[in-house]
Amino acid sequence: MNQTLFRPVAEPLVIENAYTEDQHSRMLEMVRKRGPWSLILAQHFKSPEEVIATTSGSVPDGFKPTWDMFLSPVFRGYMAQGHTCLHPEMEDCFYNQSFLDLVRGYWKAEYARPESMLFNIQGPCAGGNAPHIDATNFRGLSYQTTPIWLMNMMTKSGLFKHWQAKKAQVIAWFYKGRIGGGFTYWPDGLQAAPKQIKAPMWGRAVVVENEMMYHGAESNGPANLRQVKGLDITSLMSADPESADGWQITTDGAVIQRIPAEEFRFLVHWGADIFMDYAELKATLDHSDDISHEQVFDMLIADLRTRGETFEVPTDPMTDKAFIGLLTRVYDPGKPAVFPPEPEEALAA
Ligand SMILES: [Fe+2]
Repeated sequence: MNQTLFRPVAEPLVIENAYTEDQHSRMLEMVRKRGPWSLILAQHFKSPEEVIATTSGSVPDGFKPTWDMFLSPVFRGYMAQGHTCLHPEMEDCFYNQSFLDLVRGYWKAEYARPESMLFNIQGPCAGGNAPHIDATNFRGLSYQTTPIWLMNMMTKSGLFKHWQAKKAQVIAWFYKGRIGGGFTYWPDGLQAAPKQIKAPMWGRAVVVENEMMYHGAESNGPANLRQVKGLDITSLMSADPESADGWQITTDGAVIQRIPAEEFRFLVHWGADIFMDYAELKATLDHSDDISHEQVFDMLIADLRTRGETFEVPTDPMTDKAFIGLLTRVYDPGKPAVFPPEPEEALAA
């Protein structure tokens, strides 16, 4: 295990008032109007095996993971994708000059361009046990053409740093709940102690490189509401039509949970591409130094052989569950050595 692999380029930087009140209300309005929104899990993964490949840990032989193991009531939608703002009323939030200054400073880079903007919404939810790294891009590959699990595996292997796109994020939270709901991160690697940004928070944000730093949400809300009965991979979250500021989760059209505004956690994730200098920008734009899927699998297979692994070369490595399981085991970075304690409900009284 490579203990120094997962460290961000710089110590995360905490800022306040990342968005103006007006920007926050326009973002929230969009989320209320344009729902319902599906689960993060449903959007990014085709099988439970892929979830394991993206988080951490590995699948024991003969063990069949199920969706139930990972179902977590966190829902997602996009404000911008592929450098393009999807909603005109959000353009000032996405093409954000102060965020560009922040991420250039964070990397000490010459250039940055806004890449994506998304939100997570949720009510009470258990956290703490699923630290992860965010999806990485590589020159020649992107999440439009390549599954997230594979790109994360590339990151975990440490073999593809030459092609890895440099990125930075500004992640902001709006959460007034009194129990948990903070952000836990491991800026000094998986063997070192984590740090936490504690809620309640309203417009607090952190400048990070989340592709190279394990992180996750802290549990939030009353413990007895964190398990949503009836939740499945098709469940949806939307504004509660019977409330001006509340929310609801539905499965097959039936409301399975109502969430008051006080328990609503809203995360806004803004991501940028970083180019250290003009040469790096140019190599990205003219595709003179891209990597292909074939090259990725050739390099992974060669590395597995060097490590003495015996396996059948899959005909479709992109979806072959045995092969995904093998990669997951070999490149398992392990779990963080230290977890913070769960939030205490008594403190909320
Ligand atoms: Fe993340």
